[in-house]
Amino acid sequence: MQVFIPTEILPGETRVAATPETVARLVKRGVKVAVQAGAGARAYFGDEAYQAAGAEIVDAPAPDAAALVARVQPPSDEETDALAEGSVLVSHVFATADRARAERIAARGVTTFAMELIPRTSRAQTMDALSSQATVAGYKAVILAAERLDKLCPLLMTAAGTVKPARAVVFGAGVAGLQAIATARRLGCVVEATDIRAAAKEQVESLGARFIDVPGAEDMEDERGYAREADEEFLRRQREEVARRVEGADIVITTAQIPGRPAPLLVSEELVRSMRAGSVIVDLAVESGGNCELSVPGETVERHGVWIVGQRNLPASVPRDASLLYAKNVLALLGLMYDGEGAFSLDLTDDVLAGCLLTRDGEIVHAPTLEQLAVAEAPA
Ligand code: NAI
Repeated sequence: MQVFIPTEILPGETRVAATPETVARLVKRGVKVAVQAGAGARAYFGDEAYQAAGAEIVDAPAPDAAALVARVQPPSDEETDALAEGSVLVSHVFATADRARAERIAARGVTTFAMELIPRTSRAQTMDALSSQATVAGYKAVILAAERLDKLCPLLMTAAGTVKPARAVVFGAGVAGLQAIATARRLGCVVEATDIRAAAKEQVESLGARFIDVPGAEDMEDERGYAREADEEFLRRQREEVARRVEGADIVITTAQIPGRPAPLLVSEELVRSMRAGSVIVDLAVESGGNCELSVPGETVERHGVWIVGQRNLPASVPRDASLLYAKNVLALLGLMYDGEGAFSLDLTDDVLAGCLLTRDGEIVHAPTLEQLAVAEAPA
């Protein structure tokens, strides 16, 4: 088996799909690894380190049907066209956001395992890239908020007087939200959080934050542990309950999402207006439509005196650790694909591999993705 690690070319992408540590682990198991020159440079992993770990450094991707290409961002059109027929791709693809891209990959005759489709099961935890990267994003969201904020985060009692702690409200207590809560707590903020899944309450409280109860809330968790879409009446009550907290907040971090759906709109313009000038909102859901009505994808804007941060791809702003975690996810997934001697062996009945198999034999074969695409494309 030969694994190829390309340099990511998407503007702003700093991560890499393998680190010298994961390369060494692959090589030890008999897998040949080729790393494109400079692939790890923006995460500060030099070519020499990959070489010392046993990788071959190559200038350009050599299309080879025996190869497996592992990457972070979906391949561009040119990169897709350079993939060899019969080869294997391990990458984020986001087919529901860009069907044409997924179809182009499928048409190359490539077998694709999409990192965003790894099932969120106990067995697949080590491969769960959405979670590892959301952890980084949740942390960084709070750091960005603290950096923008006009006040200190912790309670300070000084000779010159007492500084009150900053108040943070976190929407959505999934992976990113829980890490945002933990980070805000470490900085000394008083934190409140809201979610529509009842299980989130205990997790929020275990981090020393307060859960905002919504009267008459039903549990909105589905059998996979994800949120179901909340009805309009629930969302109205949630808005009322949360609005009072947001009015008094210095920091608002929004991370609410329902897989395959546009992000729920939770922070209206009116709510932004109710916040004090100088406060900060960081909208992590900006790529899927945003939880805040006024957020602008990729930008930090000031509206009604409130800073609204809509920065994309936060994991790329922490390239070293984000790569370290992502590369470990990839390594764990590849571990399901080769035998004891490092030879390629794909068992498509394996529940994890079957769960993230996106393209095969020229087609998109992932049933839930096909369903979501059909719903999105059905006439209204
Ligand atoms: P997750 O699925 O683990 O958590 C989302 C949470 O939102 C769930 O707990 C769900 O119950 C909750 N939720 C859904 N509807 C809600 C509502 N109406 N009110 C309150 N809570 C609600 O997702 P994860 O992995 O934590 O990701 C969160 C968001 O962060 C996603 O939109 C994801 O795309 C985004 N993200 C953004 C990054 C960036 O760089 N901007 C990087 C990584 C993730």
